[in-house]
Amino acid sequence: MKILFVNASPHGETSHGYGLAIEMIRTLGKSAHGAVVKRDLASQPLPPITQDYAKAITSRDPDASRFDVSEQLIREIETTDALIINTPMHNFTVPAALKLWIDYVLRVHRTFAVTPEGKVGLMRDRPTFVIVASGGFHSGERAWQGDFLTPYLRYALGSIGLKSAHFVLLQGLTHGDEAVTDALQRAREGVARHPLFASDNAITL
Ligand SMILES: Cc1cc2nc3c(=O)[nH]c(=O)nc-3n(C[C@H](O)[C@H](O)[C@H](O)COP(=O)(O)O)c2cc1C
Repeated sequence: MKILFVNASPHGETSHGYGLAIEMIRTLGKSAHGAVVKRDLASQPLPPITQDYAKAITSRDPDASRFDVSEQLIREIETTDALIINTPMHNFTVPAALKLWIDYVLRVHRTFAVTPEGKVGLMRDRPTFVIVASGGFHSGERAWQGDFLTPYLRYALGSIGLKSAHFVLLQGLTHGDEAVTDALQRAREGVARHPLFASDNAITL
């Protein structure tokens, strides 16, 4: 099994979500002897969207060289069996680094088609885990802020065909050590219930 790990946390390896992603990769790797491709959007930021790219994306006869970055990112997904995204919540939604990745990966005529019924994804679905780390709470009884991250990212990934996104929430991470331990425990329990992690035999990729 080949796993693509996309990190969008500026905290890198010290991010709690990053640590959880590594635990998940180790579990999958143990079961499936897989390879991991890492795309670190925080330590190696993608170039901003240029006018050339914006023109090419809407052109009938685009200059294909404008799509080099986009192609590379799309191929990283296409050649993978499972996807793990670690993202913090930044001001109620995805951090800018992850939004830029989305802007390269969602490409008309390439990863989605426009039809009379709406946009249709052109990528094969595959297990996708999104770890969402937040300082406060946006889901459940303690929620006190809006969440424009999970619905947006679910919709964006679904629009290219990645419809099986499984969200793993790490909430309340700025509320002290106990809150961090509690968030990690809940997240690990949730991950363990997923068929891909439930038992070695459950892996059917
Ligand atoms: C620019 C910025 C914006 C943030 N906005 C929010 C927010 O809207 N809601 C929230 O709960 N936490 C917010 N946080 C806190 C982070 O989500 C929190 O520290 C999280 O644990 C970071 O995860 P990481 O350690 O995996 O990077 C923000 C942090 C930064 C740096």
